[in-house]
Amino acid sequence: MAARTVKLAVIPGDGIGPEVIAEGLKVLEVAASQHDLAIETTEYELGAKLWHRTGETLPDSVETELAGHEAVYLGAVGDPSVPSGVLERGLLLRLRFDFDHHVNLRPVRLYPGVDSPLAGVGPEDIDMLVVREGTEGPYAGAGGVLRKGTPHEIATQDSVNTRFGVERVVRYAFDKAAARPRRKLTLVHKDNVLSFAGELWQRVVREVGAEYPQVAVDYCHVDAASMFFVNQPARFDVVVTDNLFGDIITDIGAAIAGGIGLAASGNINPGRDFPSMFEPVHGSAPDIAGQGKADPTATVLSAVTMLDHLGVPEAARRIEDAVAADLKTRAQSGAVRSTSQIGDDLAARVAEQG
Ligand code: NAI
Ligand code: MG
Repeated sequence: MAARTVKLAVIPGDGIGPEVIAEGLKVLEVAASQHDLAIETTEYELGAKLWHRTGETLPDSVETELAGHEAVYLGAVGDPSVPSGVLERGLLLRLRFDFDHHVNLRPVRLYPGVDSPLAGVGPEDIDMLVVREGTEGPYAGAGGVLRKGTPHEIATQDSVNTRFGVERVVRYAFDKAAARPRRKLTLVHKDNVLSFAGELWQRVVREVGAEYPQVAVDYCHVDAASMFFVNQPARFDVVVTDNLFGDIITDIGAAIAGGIGLAASGNINPGRDFPSMFEPVHGSAPDIAGQGKADPTATVLSAVTMLDHLGVPEAARRIEDAVAADLKTRAQSGAVRSTSQIGDDLAARVAEQG
């Protein structure tokens, strides 16, 4: 019997979600077994099918069951037959808020052999970790509409920044920066214009930073950071930023590091009061669903982030090494493989290292 059992809730979701999750689990199970870890999965059918059948996005009873797991592994939800936003708000955002996923973690790394759209840029130039605040900012849902439908209509969407909320994500980012070789943290904001929120973020970074003298601190306005992601990505190591800015710059991050098929993420509750949720950045890709064309690598890399969070970094590195080797040979061979072939190859590589 394995020394430790992890209870993992699995939400394959819609479109390519089930296809990529199947490969993610395949690879995860091999790596886990090598490290005396048993993964006990419970699958939940959430997404478009449930919504069509019952009109529900996340039944309360299911949310309660999910809360009893150590982590959630999600493929993607969304389907052209469901009005836009229903599943995003009713399922993804609800879980992020109810499970207090206040850190949205997005590694941006260019693996050897992967083409970046940036000329003259190699793996040594792109290796960063974006720590995006996940529960506040303009996404907190504060604001409202007055005089709707009249010429005098007013819509406000307030950005919520609490001392508590900013400090906890900044602290998490400093911890991550202190554990990485470069030990650099860049705050991305727009403090010259968004001066109330920006000054709070700046002050918190200054105060928390005093506890981390080994970490070098830098600051970039978000517009400049968007430019530097493209023309000087090597400037960045750990980036900490608010919810909206993080949403936008991580898409730039995905684009410069090989695209949507490789971008992984974790919605983290660092205190472990609720399970954290790991998912590829991409959506359900209805245009290629059911054809075996989806790249499962982003989902596999999300399992790397999961294993790191679960405190099994050796297993995480195994999978990451297998992905790196696969991406390198992929570039050389040029062969087109199906979703499950890529999963088989990755699982075999992880097994070989054992
Ligand atoms: P998408 O990420 O699903 O697809 C964008 C493009 O990238 C498509 O051409 C797709 O074929 C391609 N693509 C995505 N993942 C890929 C993979 N693993 N391998 C190869 N190609 C891949 O974004 P889109 O089309 O805007 O949204 C489709 C649905 O997904 C919508 O219903 C949307 O709401 C939902 N969505 C869900 C997310 C989630 O569950 N976290 C995140 C983003 C979108
Ligand atoms: Mg986004």
